[in-house]
Amino acid sequence: MSEFIPVNEPLLDGDEKKYLLECIESGWISSEGPFVRQFEEAFAPRVGRKHGVAVANGTAALDLAVDALGLGPGDEVILPAFTIISCVHQIVRSGAIPVLVDSDPLTWNMDVGQLASRITSRTKAIMAVHIYGLPVDMDPILELARKHGLAVIEDAAEMHGQTYKGKPCGSFGTVSTFSFYPNKHLTTGEGGMIVSDDPQLAETCRSLRNLCFQPQKRFVHERLGWNARMTNMQAGIGLAQLSRLDEFVARKRRMGALYQEVLAGCSHAQLPLARTDYADNIYWVFGVVLREDCGMDAEAAMAALAKAGVGTRPFFCPMHLQPVLRRLGLFAGEEYPVAERLYKQGFYLPSGMALRPDQIERAAAALRNLFA
Ligand SMILES: Cc1ncc(COP(=O)(O)O)c(C=O)c1O
Repeated sequence: MSEFIPVNEPLLDGDEKKYLLECIESGWISSEGPFVRQFEEAFAPRVGRKHGVAVANGTAALDLAVDALGLGPGDEVILPAFTIISCVHQIVRSGAIPVLVDSDPLTWNMDVGQLASRITSRTKAIMAVHIYGLPVDMDPILELARKHGLAVIEDAAEMHGQTYKGKPCGSFGTVSTFSFYPNKHLTTGEGGMIVSDDPQLAETCRSLRNLCFQPQKRFVHERLGWNARMTNMQAGIGLAQLSRLDEFVARKRRMGALYQEVLAGCSHAQLPLARTDYADNIYWVFGVVLREDCGMDAEAAMAALAKAGVGTRPFFCPMHLQPVLRRLGLFAGEEYPVAERLYKQGFYLPSGMALRPDQIERAAAALRNLFA
């Protein structure tokens, strides 16, 4: 059998090694090193924001953002059913209530047409999550948030370098967050960033990230925080990656276009939209959703593709199907049919930054062969 095609492989052939060596030679390996602030100051303006707070991962970025907004017991936060569990962690831990919205069947993002019906007198925030490469339609979200005085948490974990109507993703939330896990357009190994234009909110996140140590009385604490600091080594890798963001976005778009070309006419699978009227896909991952009448679900297809040497990952399991959340009494009797179908029939093909055209052709041929 020819080489296994991994679902993700990052590209680290720029200045990453040079900056890492600098950390080791200077001894600055902790979060106190100079690359952290440099990375924050380079990243925030790149996504159109005034302040950046680098953190340990994208989940921590969301946790801190939700806490910094002061969301707590009884507050309702609206978010898509089809997302990663990172989105609900701090909502649930704080005693706030996650309120779900089903997905748009074509973009796989939150169906913003259903949003207004989910707003109540207890709604305090909307979490807008951009899924898999196309942004969620932000204008209706921002309009409802303005009308009802709601905060917007924009989860742009997967959206580095993407724009919505020409403005950078990450520039829309009261607070917005990113992840730098190795399958992202930019990676730091593990890592994340909170961005905002609100200096007070950014300062609160800075404090929450660092256990709420106080400048004057270091070991006296007025609030519970996290140790969610990013190390100088991670930030060094981030700086090297950030300098290549445009190249990375262009590279992923070429990969997406090649997948679209070689899978065109494959009647058994729905492919990602190449564009909407507000954005061109940046293909964070190349997802496919098998038609329900094709005789196979995602699990069976992924097992067969693994045998053919092609790595895949399942789509997100919707929040209302999460055992851990249902045991808390959440979402009883609720149904989100589009999110459920995406979960059952959807998965993504190899999508890493280091993926080669010949691997894309092989992966696509393996998918087609499942139905030959
Ligand atoms: C939409 C979304 N939000 C949050 C996260 C969490 O990021 P991390 O893995 O860095 O904690 C991810 C991770 O892939 C994600 O896709």
